[in-house]
Amino acid sequence: MTYRLLFLFAFSIITTLAIDAQSLLNQPELDERVRSFLDKQASQWSSMNIPSVDGHLLYNLIIENNYTNALEIGTSTGHSSIWMAWALSKTGGKLTTVEINEWRHAQALKNFKEAGLENYIDARLADAHELVHQLTGPFDFVFSDADKNWYQKYFIAIDPKLKINGCYTSHNVSKKNKSRWSANYLDFLKNQSHYKTEINEKGAGVSISYKIAEK
Ligand SMILES: C[S@@+](CC[C@H](N)C(=O)[O-])C[C@H]1O[C@@H](n2cnc3c(N)ncnc32)[C@H](O)[C@@H]1O
Repeated sequence: MTYRLLFLFAFSIITTLAIDAQSLLNQPELDERVRSFLDKQASQWSSMNIPSVDGHLLYNLIIENNYTNALEIGTSTGHSSIWMAWALSKTGGKLTTVEINEWRHAQALKNFKEAGLENYIDARLADAHELVHQLTGPFDFVFSDADKNWYQKYFIAIDPKLKINGCYTSHNVSKKNKSRWSANYLDFLKNQSHYKTEINEKGAGVSISYKIAEK
């Protein structure tokens, strides 16, 4: 009897894992193309772009939570977008990303194409101060990485468009970061009682805020 129960338990775990693995879209050729692009580009990103360890973090958050509708504020030349779009290519999702600088936007478009991810990215050349009010969402994942003095305003504008269980992440937010804006922003996040916020300090600091209720 005990063996039978153990067998059934193991069988149900294996079946659940198999279903989870199957629900991720499998595109080995695309994976290979993205990997080789990221390898080739590794030493080319500027200090503006996120470090790879933070890219990996964004990738994992999307995959683990099966997010499908992501928004990025601050594309630059597209490093973080590529990590997120790669994850979204597996969940069947799409990324909307916004950049105000024409040259960086053009460069990002080139990079998305080279990585083979252009079909997963809606890249807008726009001022995010305005665009965040026009976008309807709903989103389940947000990455904020543009002008730091606008972080709170971005959060307030996007909050009603983020689904419950969705996740709002912000870059360069760290307990080690001694700048006043980072401490103020972290206080602001911690005061959002309808979110649960943690910080990942492995790279440049990423705040990860899960929405647990509507305001
Ligand atoms: C730190 S970089 C983003 C890096 C990018 N996430 C990456 O990892 O490749 C910040 C970007 O935000 C853009 N930005 C600043 N203010 C903006 C605004 N109001 N609207 C849209 N983009 C803005 C800047 O031009 C810059 O390219």
